[in-house]
Amino acid sequence: MTIHFHWNKDTAVLMGIKQSGKSTTIKELIKGVKKENIIILDSNREYKEFPNRWIPKEYTRDELDKFIRHCRKFKNKLIIVEDIDLYFDSSHATTEFRNLMINGSHQDLGFIATLKRPLGNPRILMTEAIHLFMGRFSLKNEREYLEDFLNSRGEIEKLKRFEFWYRNNDLDEEFLWKTRG
Ligand SMILES: Nc1ncnc2c1ncn2[C@@H]1O[C@H](COP(=O)(O)OP(=O)(O)O)[C@@H](O)[C@H]1O
Ligand SMILES: [Mg+2]
Repeated sequence: MTIHFHWNKDTAVLMGIKQSGKSTTIKELIKGVKKENIIILDSNREYKEFPNRWIPKEYTRDELDKFIRHCRKFKNKLIIVEDIDLYFDSSHATTEFRNLMINGSHQDLGFIATLKRPLGNPRILMTEAIHLFMGRFSLKNEREYLEDFLNSRGEIEKLKRFEFWYRNNDLDEEFLWKTRG
């Protein structure tokens, strides 16, 4: 099964605990995209070789909105936010984030976000994203929250390290995805 990620249109959300293969998956998704066309909210200072990094001054909703407003000055870019859950303190979306999820593709802005915990984040992450990658989670309520968005049940708890259950919301298609480490 292949994943067609349209870098300046699509939204992808990757959920998984630390060291589960999220950043490795991003590397695969952005293969072939010029580094100059990528703008990163580099929450953990790991994208040193990318020219358009935004290092957060604080981990707040305001900081996330400031970053998105900055990105809105451009067209034809891919926006990456690592650990977006650091900026949310509730499941209420920020205004800029909500708008980006809904209409970013009209401005030729693609978007990738990672997060470590599924609960306590805006639901719009799951409903507006085209590509969803869900890693293994040990808590039952986390798995149940995720399964509400899926056709398949019981797949999340079968996952091993470096495996994600992938769902394409546009195609209504789901399958197992493994990182190539
Ligand atoms: N399939 C794999 N097999 C072995 N190691 C892997 C595999 N996928 C990723 N890795 C390695 O595991 C580590 C954690 O992966 P990473 O993508 O950084 O996780 P995350 O971003 O979720 O914290 C990295 O050193 C990566 O190179
Ligand atoms: Mg990572």
